[in-house]
Formats: sequence, structure tokens, C-alpha cells
Amino acid sequence: MLKLFHEHPEFNEFSLFDTTTGRMSLLAAEDFNALLPGSLPEENGEYIQHAKWPGMELFFGAKPSTHTRFPRRIYFQITRSCNLECPACFIKAHRAGTHVPVNAVMQMISFLSRHGLAEVRLTGGEPTLHPNFIEILHAFQAAGVYVSVGTNGVINQRTLEALAEARGYWLICSLDGNKTTHNSYRGDTYDTILGNLRFLRERNPLLRIRLTTVLTRQNMDQMWHLGQVCREIGAESITIIPLRPQVRDPAIKSSMVTAREFRKVIETMVEVRAAMGVRFTTTIETDYKEQIERDPVFTKRSSCAAGREGTNLDYDEATKTFQVYGCSYSPASDLAASPEIRKPFLAGTFGLDEPEKFLTIWRDDLRWTLFRDLSLKSAACRECVYLHHNLCTGSCPIQNVDYDSLQLNKDVFEQLKKQVAATAEWYCYHQVTDEKGF
Ligand SMILES: C[S@@+](CC[C@H](N)C(=O)[O-])C[C@H]1O[C@@H](n2cnc3c(N)ncnc32)[C@H](O)[C@@H]1O
Repeated sequence: MLKLFHEHPEFNEFSLFDTTTGRMSLLAAEDFNALLPGSLPEENGEYIQHAKWPGMELFFGAKPSTHTRFPRRIYFQITRSCNLECPACFIKAHRAGTHVPVNAVMQMISFLSRHGLAEVRLTGGEPTLHPNFIEILHAFQAAGVYVSVGTNGVINQRTLEALAEARGYWLICSLDGNKTTHNSYRGDTYDTILGNLRFLRERNPLLRIRLTTVLTRQNMDQMWHLGQVCREIGAESITIIPLRPQVRDPAIKSSMVTAREFRKVIETMVEVRAAMGVRFTTTIETDYKEQIERDPVFTKRSSCAAGREGTNLDYDEATKTFQVYGCSYSPASDLAASPEIRKPFLAGTFGLDEPEKFLTIWRDDLRWTLFRDLSLKSAACRECVYLHHNLCTGSCPIQNVDYDSLQLNKDVFEQLKKQVAATAEWYCYHQVTDEKGF
């Protein structure tokens, strides 16, 4: 299925998503028009318009400049259950965590596909623990939504067999360094994960696999090792995500790399790529932009995609509501955090049988101020030469917020706005290239 999107130029006016490959292509107007079986239909004032032909769907209508008309990718936390409970994890999932009721998931699938969702990232917790995980994967596929699965790779045999049989999805598996380092974060799981990846590769030579590594001081010199693993299991790419400070065990925070160390890792990955052909992605595009893979769905133009091109969809068992928030690193993902701190990051909530409220939430810019109001970024960031040359997206707008300093008896939102405007991203690219010059 091909999905065509006509959007505001900020998000590439004309784009094409192929639900078989899971990739978005940016098109010139004439190529876009040439693909349409007829001319671009007239707009009738509805927020989302939809036209359908065999093998092709067109989504058009409103063209907001602050966000895509509908999220392109949703990170769907289908479960709060996790078999690992990693100390570095921003999600407070645990072994007894609850799953989103399958009926509510099915209703959401129907709603999301009708409004033009390109990709769903099934995540959690550990998504493969959801008792209906495989059914959910197939239901999204049947609805024409591309599925990626964010997993820790510790998967029971039954689910592994089913994953080996499934086709046309993307397996995104965490691996946090060599055996010793990985196991120090994720229990004694390194061999199990590699065994499972080898099994899947053997049963499905075409399976699209990506490794994800959370970058820390402990694994920053293990990029060659990770490159070898990618090669061995035939991974399409590896993503290097610098450790974010929203962790379960505060002691882990001291493992965050500096901007300079991050830069060094990027340089090494460029060498790994040249020597081994291993492609990689990371959070900030740099002067190595040409060697770093683009996100296959998000444009990330002017800022991180959170709340602009994608969102999280989570579930709170206590209130039996879906929770919509831009960033899973923000306090919104911590269901037990104080409501005053969560509120500025939480775009909205809705009941399990009212999926249409999702669109009301997504459309309303006021609910997403911290992500969509780019004037809130620090002056240093807004004026940065790298941002203007589209070498850096400005990355994470909320990275340096000091949550402990917030006074809950005062207006938290105002305090947050001031903090965001005063600080730049921890891994600010400018900081490490300054001395080199542009
Ligand atoms: C929350 S996990 C859920 C999926 C799955 N259970 C897993 O472990 O991959 C999603 C991704 O977030 C990453 N992650 C978790 N905490 C992080 C942090 N503090 N900083 C950066 N990435 C983090 C994980 O390593 C994983 O790749």
C-alpha cells in the first residue's frame, strides 16, 4: 500500500510512504501529482480528507505548520509489563505491569489507520509480553499500518516462532554493548538475545533488524564490537541513543557521556560504516549528516519529532485511560509522578472506548506548547548556525530541565518555559564543534 501525504512545507509538502518497506520518500510536486490516478481532489474544509484507490491512499486537508495533520509514527506502549526492569530505563515498567486491553487496542487500530498513521512502534515495557502481541501486530498490518517492534530481545519461544513466521515488519532490538557491559545493564541476557536474533535471521533472511544501543561511558569504546554484531546478524542499521537522565537508578546518570565524547563516538561510527558497511542513526545530525541514516519516517526539521510528527500512546490502568504525550523521556511517562509535573508534558487523556478524542488532542497546539512553540528554545539554539543549516534539528527541547528545582506550589508551566529557554540540549552539537568552526 502507498500512502500519499499533502502537508505543510515544514513537513515536506509532498511525501509518499510505502507500507511494505516502511519508508517515507519526499517527492517533488510533479512526481506526487503523477502518482495520483486523477488530479488532487478539492479541499472541503475538513481537517483530514482521505481518498482511496486500489493500492493507494491520499491524506490531505488542513496544513498546520506546527505539526503533521496526524502523527506519522506512534510509540504505542501496549504493556507496562517488563521482564528486565533495567536500571537505565525511563519507563517504570515491572514484571507485574498491566497490558492495554486488547479490545481497546483493536478500536485504536481502526481509528489510527483511517486517519493516516504510517507506522506504529509497538513498545512498552516489553511489547512481546502482551498476551495478544502477535494478534495486534497482524491487526495493524491488515489495517495498512507499518509495524516496528521495540524489544529487548528476551522473547519466549512461542512468540519467537510467530515472529519468525510474520513478514513485513521491523524488529528493533536493544543491545547495550559487549557481553560484559550489556549484561551489567540487562541481566544475563546477551547470549539469549543474540541466539534469538540468529534464530529469526535464519528463519527469515529478509527480516529487517535494527539494533539500538544506549550510549554510556561504559560502552562508548565498543562501537567496533557492535558493528561486528550488526554484520553477523545482518542488521540493517544500529541506532546510538545517548543515555537520557530520566533513569530508574539515579546512580546511572554519572554514565552520561559528554558532548565531546558523543562526537568521538559519531566519528568512530563513521569509520565503522566505512570499514564494515554498517549503517547507523543517532539523535543529532552533524557535519557527518551524509554518513548518518535519516529517520525513515520523521523529517525532524527545526526540532525533534516529539509532538510535531509523532507521539506516545500509553495506558494508565489506575484510571483506565489512554495517555497521550510527546516524549517518553518526559515526566509524562511516569504515571506515578506528581500531576503538577506531568501536566505540562501530558497532551491529554481519553477513555478506552473514545478513540476519536485522540485527534482532538493532537490538533490542539496549546496542549503541546513545550514541543511545538519553537520560540521557547534557547536563543543559543535558535540562532545556531548548525540549526540554520539543518545539520542539527535542535534536538531535544526539554533535555536539560531540572525537575527537582521546580516549585510545585507555583506555576510549573511558567517555570518550565523559562528553563527551556535558558538551557540547550545536554549533547549540544555546537559545544563540540565550536573550536573547529563551521
Ligand atoms: C523503554 S524501551 C522499551 C522496549 C524494550 N523493552 C527494550 O528494552 O528495548 C525503548 C528504548 O528506550 C531505550 N531507553 C530506555 N531508557 C533510556 C534512557 N534513559 N536513555 C536513552 N534510551 C533509553 C531502551 O534502551 C530501548 O531501546
